[in-house]
Amino acid sequence: MAAQNRFTEDLIAWQKTAGRHDLPWQNTRDPYRIWLSEIMLQQTQVSTVIPYYAGFLASFPDVLALAEAPIEAVIAHWAGLGYYARARNLHRCAQQIAAVHRGKFPETEMQLAELPGIGRSTAAAIAAFAFGRRAAILDGNVKRVLCRQFGVEGFPGAKAVHDGLWDLAESLLPEDGIEVYTQGLMDLGATLCTRSRPRCGECPVADACVARRDGRQGELPEAKPRAAVPERRSTFVLLCDGQRLLLERRPPSGLWGSLLVPPEGEPAKVAARFGLEIIETSALPPFKHAFTHFRLTLVPMLCRIDARFQVAEPGLEWVALERAADAGVPAPIKKLIRQVASAGG
Ligand code: ADE
Repeated sequence: MAAQNRFTEDLIAWQKTAGRHDLPWQNTRDPYRIWLSEIMLQQTQVSTVIPYYAGFLASFPDVLALAEAPIEAVIAHWAGLGYYARARNLHRCAQQIAAVHRGKFPETEMQLAELPGIGRSTAAAIAAFAFGRRAAILDGNVKRVLCRQFGVEGFPGAKAVHDGLWDLAESLLPEDGIEVYTQGLMDLGATLCTRSRPRCGECPVADACVARRDGRQGELPEAKPRAAVPERRSTFVLLCDGQRLLLERRPPSGLWGSLLVPPEGEPAKVAARFGLEIIETSALPPFKHAFTHFRLTLVPMLCRIDARFQVAEPGLEWVALERAADAGVPAPIKKLIRQVASAGG
């Protein structure tokens, strides 16, 4: 038997014995009730939805009642569920079904997906549960299940991965039993194949699961790739007279605010700014330091200056070389000063 058939069959068998069967929107073919539950369950957990679902149905028992209700009454029933665009789309959708479809829900996933607030996956869920249509769902939970089971690499939000997951989801559909299979996928994602600490010991498809085999449940599905961190490069001039190092206090705000740092810039320019003469320059090995939002390559230049140089500018301080690493300097500068001090300045 093909691996994909096995997945489908094992999931159906498991749903029948261990899945959820008594949720308020199950055991009905009423597309109104199924549609309402699927919209409420977008971004909201089952336990939160249940009381809202009951209240909503009591006030708006069918699609025409909802279409005729004022939007304020609809919003009032939604208050607390969040994502209020869902309530507005729900109302618009009901009005469209009343006006365009004469009060009857269309039966194909293609037609359903044209209605306000109904995306491809929600359309498939309604079509499967209400009309027994062989249509594939692919919400966040299902993506996680498929990525783990079949070892799908890449961020599921990336177009190529997303398209591949839809193809995979469609290839898995059973010939018969779409309702049980669809509910099984939802149940597995919600109860066992959870984002953190999945309960693989109880999973009906653990034997064939790529993530389980390779111990990669924590890595699949892959996280959104982080944007590349900007790279910066800066030259730091270690002006040393053999005994002391010249440090400059940073302004209070900004990077390394109020800390002591060797002057930044090309040695010749720094020397000109302070009116001093460099006797000898040696380049030290550049090194990298990671900040939260960028990476800095520090290019250190060790410059020997005359000991008679007087500090004139405010913010400039002579610090004894042995003390400089502990004089309130940032971590990468501390590392640098230690190297210079241990080499004898
Ligand atoms: N989440 C989305 N649709 C669902 C459904 N029909 N049952 C349980 N959880 C769901």
